[in-house]
Amino acid sequence: MEKRTELYRGKAKTVYTTDDPERLILHFRNDTSAFDGEKVEQLDRKGMINNKFNNFIMDKLEAAGVATQIDKVLSDTETLVKRLDMIPVECVVRNYAAGSLVRRLGVEEGQELSPATFELFLKNDALHDPMINETHAVAFGWATAEQLAQMKSLTFKVNDVLKQLFDDAGMLLVDFKLEFGVAADGSIVLGDEFSPDGCRLWDKETRKKLDKDRFRQGLGGVVEAYEEVANRLGVAL
Ligand SMILES: Nc1ncnc2c1ncn2[C@@H]1O[C@H](COP(=O)(O)OP(=O)(O)O)[C@@H](O)[C@H]1O
Ligand SMILES: [Mg+2]
Repeated sequence: MEKRTELYRGKAKTVYTTDDPERLILHFRNDTSAFDGEKVEQLDRKGMINNKFNNFIMDKLEAAGVATQIDKVLSDTETLVKRLDMIPVECVVRNYAAGSLVRRLGVEEGQELSPATFELFLKNDALHDPMINETHAVAFGWATAEQLAQMKSLTFKVNDVLKQLFDDAGMLLVDFKLEFGVAADGSIVLGDEFSPDGCRLWDKETRKKLDKDRFRQGLGGVVEAYEEVANRLGVAL
């Protein structure tokens, strides 16, 4: 396997083509961004932690029957993945109220949500990732109704698996975002990453924030918190 050209440089990762047209390399950088790229900082070790964390989580999901992009880990910060035709719709499940939900609806942060909620957002930084519904996604051709149904059921399955995994390690999975893509055979596959950059995790007892909200809110100890999450789960760093 040979690394070829840079295909796309996103806010946190760079995507490279390889000599295999069906495989890409995801390079996890130290760049940490918030507010649609308005606040950006380099956080030492973050790329390595997120790469290893993502591989650990996707392994667990694969074992639970969720098809993921992972092919193999190439280095501390690089992973070989299946090339997917990404669906530009982000799937969000919330178990507790936080973030934009609190701001939009004026509800209290930390309130447990029963049932867990499911939301769709258009992946578009210029428009600040606006919330959309299924009919928008179908009407504008971003995803088919069948794909959306699968994405929703897979996202809830991921929630079931990970809620338990984090609970066993003394953490609450508050919410998370997933990105799916279409594989060469037309199936829906989990792509992108699952890391503290794209979810909220709180300590179960103290509710200390252990995710990117530490960066957004200038709380400090961002990488230390990501490391603590990885250590609690037993991810080898
Ligand atoms: N398996 C994959 N195949 C193709 N593209 C992918 C895959 N996984 C993630 N991507 C895309 O690669 C980019 C990853 O870089 P990232 O820094 O997260 O970008 P962004 O700033 O767009 O969120 C994203 O646009 C994501 O949708
Ligand atoms: Mg991203």
